[in-house]
Amino acid sequence: MKPAYYVTTPIYYVNDVPHIGHAYTTLAADVLARYKRLKGFDVFFLTGTDEHGQKVEKAAIAAGETPLELADRVMKRFQSLWEKLEISNTDFIRTTQERHKKGVSVLFERVMEKGDIYLGEYEDWYCTPCETFWTETQLIDYKCPDCNRPTEKLKEESYFFRMSKYQDQLLAHIEANPDFIQPKSRRNEIISFVKEGLRDLSVSRTTFQWGIPVPGNDKHVVYVWFDALTNYITALGYPDEQGNFGKYWPCDVHLIGKDILRFHTVYWPTFLMAAGLPIPKKVFAHGWWTVEGQKMSKSLQNVVEPNMLVDKYGVDAVRYFLLREVPFGLDGDFSHQALVHRINSDLANDLGNLLNRSTAMLGKYFGGVLQAPGEETDLDAAYREKTAAMIGQVDGFIEDLAFSRALQAIWEVISAGNKYIDETAPWTLAKDPEKRERLATVMYYMLESQRVVYSLLSAFMPKTSEKGLCCLGWPQAPDAGDLAWGGLKPGTPIAKAEALFPRIEEKAE
Ligand code: MSP
Repeated sequence: MKPAYYVTTPIYYVNDVPHIGHAYTTLAADVLARYKRLKGFDVFFLTGTDEHGQKVEKAAIAAGETPLELADRVMKRFQSLWEKLEISNTDFIRTTQERHKKGVSVLFERVMEKGDIYLGEYEDWYCTPCETFWTETQLIDYKCPDCNRPTEKLKEESYFFRMSKYQDQLLAHIEANPDFIQPKSRRNEIISFVKEGLRDLSVSRTTFQWGIPVPGNDKHVVYVWFDALTNYITALGYPDEQGNFGKYWPCDVHLIGKDILRFHTVYWPTFLMAAGLPIPKKVFAHGWWTVEGQKMSKSLQNVVEPNMLVDKYGVDAVRYFLLREVPFGLDGDFSHQALVHRINSDLANDLGNLLNRSTAMLGKYFGGVLQAPGEETDLDAAYREKTAAMIGQVDGFIEDLAFSRALQAIWEVISAGNKYIDETAPWTLAKDPEKRERLATVMYYMLESQRVVYSLLSAFMPKTSEKGLCCLGWPQAPDAGDLAWGGLKPGTPIAKAEALFPRIEEKAE
């Protein structure tokens, strides 16, 4: 039986249309999912939309729609963007679905039965955009310490979750599991937050209606974060603890942005502890994208729309750029110039050109038919070993979610390929009839190394990988067993490759 692997993205609020920030988390999750499938895992990859809460209700009113109409409309934009970006999710959960609402009610009820949710009264400062309560001392000039927007004082009857009770258990868990929260800087941030002391958390609202009713008291709706976080298990069929839940939970990794770390590493695990359920194995928070040095915002009109990027540059160029440009975990800056530069240098020059040159040479020297390699020289061995070493390196980097370094490791082999051609100079060998076998060996090495490269690229750039492999006479989808050297069989016809990534005129941009 294949080992199970479960990866999630946050579920996206439907009050906003998708931008590169959203696409980023989903792309990273997709690379992981595809890579794990390549390695033989049985992968469950979940994404979806977060459709309840005051923020969505307000946006619907402003748009003259019901919240569900708004959600139906916006969630389609997310779904069609994911198709366009070749996202291979297993499921797409909406928090307005029955399966989800039922699971949330059960979880809430279980924690309540245990005595860890109780009725009390709340008075504090609320930030609607962040859907978060703050104490007066946490505010900065009465503004939200996270987003700097105005807060309002709210007093309401509320159910509280006894989060304080789980402080020590949570801290012990974080300390005993160094991989639970990543990167390390984020882990330290959460450790100090928990050490400062956890307050009980308000987990219901009475000031608006758009949410899941609290079981047994429908004056209240369940707090949107209690509702939203539970998606990770309702999509697996919870409260049914057999089936997918039994198979995939606890999840291998929740991928999130740094802004929602506390919800995932403090609230969520303590809810699960209270319910007696296992805790996710890992939560990884990535950084934020700015655009040409500025925060992305509607008011600045600088929101980068992924659809437009894909139309202009192609899906794989966008996928490559977002994961290559910035180390996962750090903040990054988007600019068209940087994207065009990556396309021209890494994709057109290094990757595309290698395939193009090598297939053209095979056409010219051997009529486009791969020949058996002859004796291996030190130069060939070094190239073969570098290709083999890349497989382990990429594996380690992806395990650490260091996508950019994984791509760098692949590109080192691509550069080595271009250098190998320069050093072996096939055009000189071709002039000497005595060197036919040597020439055949060189051709084999440069094409076989690329076959391994394009197999690994299937996680990052699925279309490009397919095109490259097809061109190399490898029409089937690669799997882990195919990564070993020697897969290409002599006698295979290999046609000259088209340019995979035409150069873009930098000035015109
Ligand atoms: N609905 C909640 C998540 C609930 S998960 C149980 C939410 N939604 S969101 O739509 O506002 O944000 C979703 C994700 O997009 C977050 O991980 C956030 O970090 C990410 N990004 C939003 N803007 C971003 C950038 N500018 N850059 C990178 N990621 C960003 O939060």
